[in-house]
Amino acid sequence: MAELTLRKLTSEDIDLLEANFQSVHGAGEAQWFGFWDTTKLRTRLSQDQFIGSNDGALAVCLGERTIGKVDWFTVTNWGRANTSACWEIAIGIFAEHRGRGFGTQAQRLLIDYLFAHYPRHRIQATTAIENIAERRSLEKLDFVQEGIIRQAQWRAGAWHDQVIYSVLREQFAG
Ligand SMILES: CC(C)(COP(=O)(O)OP(=O)(O)OC[C@H]1O[C@@H](n2cnc3c(N)ncnc32)[C@H](O)[C@@H]1OP(=O)(O)O)[C@@H](O)C(=O)NCCC(=O)NCCS
Repeated sequence: MAELTLRKLTSEDIDLLEANFQSVHGAGEAQWFGFWDTTKLRTRLSQDQFIGSNDGALAVCLGERTIGKVDWFTVTNWGRANTSACWEIAIGIFAEHRGRGFGTQAQRLLIDYLFAHYPRHRIQATTAIENIAERRSLEKLDFVQEGIIRQAQWRAGAWHDQVIYSVLREQFAG
């Protein structure tokens, strides 16, 4: 079995992201919010290769093959931005590669990466309450469910509840 790794995004990856995430099947039912402006991806790639100080993204690769993307961004709504910032993570695995453990493995690699390279001690994740694959994946990675964000997300013609999870540095087993 080829090794799962994270690496910096390339312009070929952007083509794959456009091709794979521009439909309900591709994005996943819980992540489809309609079409979006993918030129922003190319602009961002040319600006900082998706490695910013407040957010970033990496390709998920199975051997040489790109099978998805992980993202992280800064959340500052728990206190003052300079003292209470934490990371939030997100992920999209291409539809044909889902359900084979790669999403869980990729998020494990991302959490390891973020705790290794930044001193922040909290990583949070939010997902739709009906997104069982992501919820189960987070729970397998020691994330603790903190609450339900009621009717927060407009998608597919209705409001949807979200679930918020977090893992703390000292609690993450790796
Ligand atoms: C959510 C996602 C990242 C999970 O990755 P994945 O590789 O498909 O999931 P895994 O194979 O690692 O499985 C994780 C757990 O979920 C379960 N699972 C996987 N797919 C499932 C499904 N369709 N329904 C219910 N459970 C599912 C697995 O059985 C496993 O639990 P287990 O070990 O207790 O059996 C991936 O499905 C995806 O990219 N979905 C579309 C985008 C999305 O929803 N992103 C998350 C929101 S930010």
